Amino acid sequence: MVEFSGGCRFEVFTLFPPLLEGFLGESILKRAIDRGLVAVNLHNIRDYAVDRHRTCDATPYGGGGGMVLKPEPVYAAVEHVLEGDAGTRDANVPVILLSPQGRLLTQKVVEDLSAHPRLALICGRYEGFDERIRIGLATDEISIGDYVLNGGEVAAMVVVEAVSRLVPGVLGFDDSTRNDSHSAGMSGRLEGPHYTRPAVFRGQSIPPVLTSGHHAEVDRWRHEQSLLRTVARRPDLLVRYPPDAKDAAFLTEHGYDLQSLGIETKE
Ligand code: 6GU
Repeated sequence: MVEFSGGCRFEVFTLFPPLLEGFLGESILKRAIDRGLVAVNLHNIRDYAVDRHRTCDATPYGGGGGMVLKPEPVYAAVEHVLEGDAGTRDANVPVILLSPQGRLLTQKVVEDLSAHPRLALICGRYEGFDERIRIGLATDEISIGDYVLNGGEVAAMVVVEAVSRLVPGVLGFDDSTRNDSHSAGMSGRLEGPHYTRPAVFRGQSIPPVLTSGHHAEVDRWRHEQSLLRTVARRPDLLVRYPPDAKDAAFLTEHGYDLQSLGIETKE
């Protein structure tokens, strides 16, 4: 039994706990869990079904195809776990439904979630879930993108991994989240290219500035590469996080018409 010492605690409600077990048992997340920085408790919704067949789905009222996740086992599972023995529900724990109808997960949402010491994640399955799960149980609803998955399990793991990386001590090098693509510290820019040994690989050389020993030059090159990569791949990020006058001039020199891209310049 690992002593949990703060960080973030996830209560994940799913019909398929084994889908998540393998994912949590490797690499950085496993280490974080072993060290008590993160806790992920898996709860099988089926354990809370009351009938002989442990039914969790049923046909929709009004007809139509597909099956719908029943409300009773989901309510029972979440209430049992969040109310515990005392029978008092901790109202401060967000209860998040993973569904393609939720608000889109971004690094900003991840940062907001990481402020909570405990999160409940409900993985939808079947063609949908009874609307009363949404109305009376969930406090938030999140989607990981505009495409459809078979259920919320993969999305729940995305949330667990993205939030866990922000828990102090989970990543070895304290500083290494700061420059990540999409993080707030990067002002919404993509990172530029990285290189490691060898200096020449199949005829492709690394940029000479990286071995010049001039740290200021390296920093400037990285900043410029980040700008060029962002404007080429994700100009929408520069619309949302406008470049300053110097960066805007740099991009214009490199042939980008910022006005036609809808990119303004920060004062
Ligand atoms: Cl959270 N669930 C499902 N089923 N599909 C999705 C999703 C979630 N996010 C994007 N697509």
